[in-house]
Amino acid sequence: MAQIIDGKLISQQIKDELKEKVAELKEEGKEICLAVIQVGNDPASTVYVGNKKKACEYIGIKSLAYEVPEETTEAELLDIIDKLNKDDNVHGILVQLPVPKHINEEKIINAISPSKDVDGFHPASVGALSIGQKGFVSCTPAGVIQLLKRSNIEISGKECVVIGRSNIVGKPMGMLLLRENGTVTICHSRTKDLKEVCKRADILVVAIGKPRMIDASYVKEGATVIDVGIHRDENNKLCGDVDYASVEPVAGAITPVPGGVGPMTIAMLMNNCVEAGLN
Ligand code: GUN
Repeated sequence: MAQIIDGKLISQQIKDELKEKVAELKEEGKEICLAVIQVGNDPASTVYVGNKKKACEYIGIKSLAYEVPEETTEAELLDIIDKLNKDDNVHGILVQLPVPKHINEEKIINAISPSKDVDGFHPASVGALSIGQKGFVSCTPAGVIQLLKRSNIEISGKECVVIGRSNIVGKPMGMLLLRENGTVTICHSRTKDLKEVCKRADILVVAIGKPRMIDASYVKEGATVIDVGIHRDENNKLCGDVDYASVEPVAGAITPVPGGVGPMTIAMLMNNCVEAGLN
């Protein structure tokens, strides 16, 4: 029986710790503020933005919602960001992605001041992570590290295999595991002998975006398996990139979907907001 890594519980602990810290800051006269910008009304984005607002409310962070129409121009969006960059009462700025096609996402990410980049997507934030300088870290991989640490799973010296090389998850995940002294391999669609590489892993982080792709044949006995994926299967049931029923019996520890990595992303966003407020 694998240890089930309870992301719901761990994220709740983190949110409660942050709630306390935010209350202390309020007593000192400091109110943390996150600006959330949503362009258009993509239903998935509306759900994500709503969850972020709810988390802010729970913790005591002020959230400013900028819900602007689909037709908003790039220049108008850049202008909003510029104003928020200059506003000392705003500590974090988040533009919900994806933005509509007529807006250049890279330009938007680059426009957010690195000191307010609570998503950790700015090139300066990514660069800081890769050379060991202070900066905001992408929330999902930061959440994975918290899951491991708070479950007493040693990273130092361990074989860590990450499947997926996205800018938001795979690459920063590799950097973070390296920072924790893991021996890191990043796999992707061109990796040869993926199964053999995965079977070396003491810690396997799966972020490929393919429902239930990783079964027990990819997993070493006793390995820790972290599933970053989230999908709805043919029966409308939530599932991850990992075939949980197949992998759970061989893994030493595993994250469920839902209730594993998912809730950690928002907890780490809230953590970044509090950090931003302390700067
Ligand atoms: N869209 C999907 N995930 C994210 C995220 O973590 N941050 C932002 N800004 N947009 C997203």
